[in-house]
Amino acid sequence: MIEVEAVTKRYGSICALDNVSFTVPDGQIVGLLGPNGAGKTTLVKIATLLTRMDSGSCRLNGMDVLRQPDAIRKIIGVVPQTTNLDRELTVYENLLVYGKLHKVRKLKEQIERAMQGVDIWERRDAVAGNLSGGLQRRLLLARVLLSEPEIIFLDEPSIGLDPQIRQQLWNIIRGMRRAGRTVFMTTHYIQEAEALCDCVGILLKGHLITIGTPEALRASAGGQVVDYFDSAGALQHQICHTRAEASELAHQRGPAASIRDTNLEDVFLALTHERMS
Ligand SMILES: Nc1ncnc2c1ncn2[C@@H]1O[C@H](COP(=O)(O)OP(=O)(O)OP(=O)(O)O)[C@@H](O)[C@H]1O
Ligand SMILES: [Mg+2]
Repeated sequence: MIEVEAVTKRYGSICALDNVSFTVPDGQIVGLLGPNGAGKTTLVKIATLLTRMDSGSCRLNGMDVLRQPDAIRKIIGVVPQTTNLDRELTVYENLLVYGKLHKVRKLKEQIERAMQGVDIWERRDAVAGNLSGGLQRRLLLARVLLSEPEIIFLDEPSIGLDPQIRQQLWNIIRGMRRAGRTVFMTTHYIQEAEALCDCVGILLKGHLITIGTPEALRASAGGQVVDYFDSAGALQHQICHTRAEASELAHQRGPAASIRDTNLEDVFLALTHERMS
């Protein structure tokens, strides 16, 4: 379980996180969406002991990150936003070094299991720096799986990956959930959050403006959207709360208007637009 309570973090005059609170139950995938600079990485860093919050508290599986850092280190795994592999070493050696550092028991077996888990076994002797971006990401995931963490933090795991590799990555992340792990991930891809996450939060300029299941977020914004072209020929979207309201609006907007179900992108755009304006 992840319990974040009133977390605030400033960097000089910048308030990276402002009174952020939420709870994630065990075994869920929670996704944090937000534009550049929203505070996503800052939150990951606070929960993974890479930076200290100014105020508030963060507990992972009941343990306080500030008071029990050693115990916290034993139950977390982190894939940072920027790849931090040892580029000179092979795939296997990267896992070996990490495993030794984390005192992983039965290391050889665990390395094999982790490599099979992300389907990178065939490339075990390749030099990490020569791998494609997708394979480097998979190696990072194998590395994180090595110590069998209870809670996994993934900061933009699918950045720069092609759609096919991204699907593979999603399956690996779903596998983490099947194994009973809790996954906290950040992403810029709304579609990814929709496809993968049990719970989605939207962070904007350090404020958590909403958090809930994708269904709950869609329902709270309004279940239907009317797409239509305005007088300047630009495509517009308007969220409606009822089917009747949507039909009425579509009728007003003319024959080119159409009605569809709300998706997370509509919710994201509506909420962020509201806050920005
Ligand atoms: N070490 C630091 N020193 C000063 N300011 C920082 C530092 N780290 C982050 N910030 C600032 O805090 C804010 C939040 O940054 P953060 O990296 O958490 O955003 P993010 O949501 O992860 O963005 P991105 O999507 O670009 O990765 C930004 O305004 C950033 O410039
Ligand atoms: Mg970031």
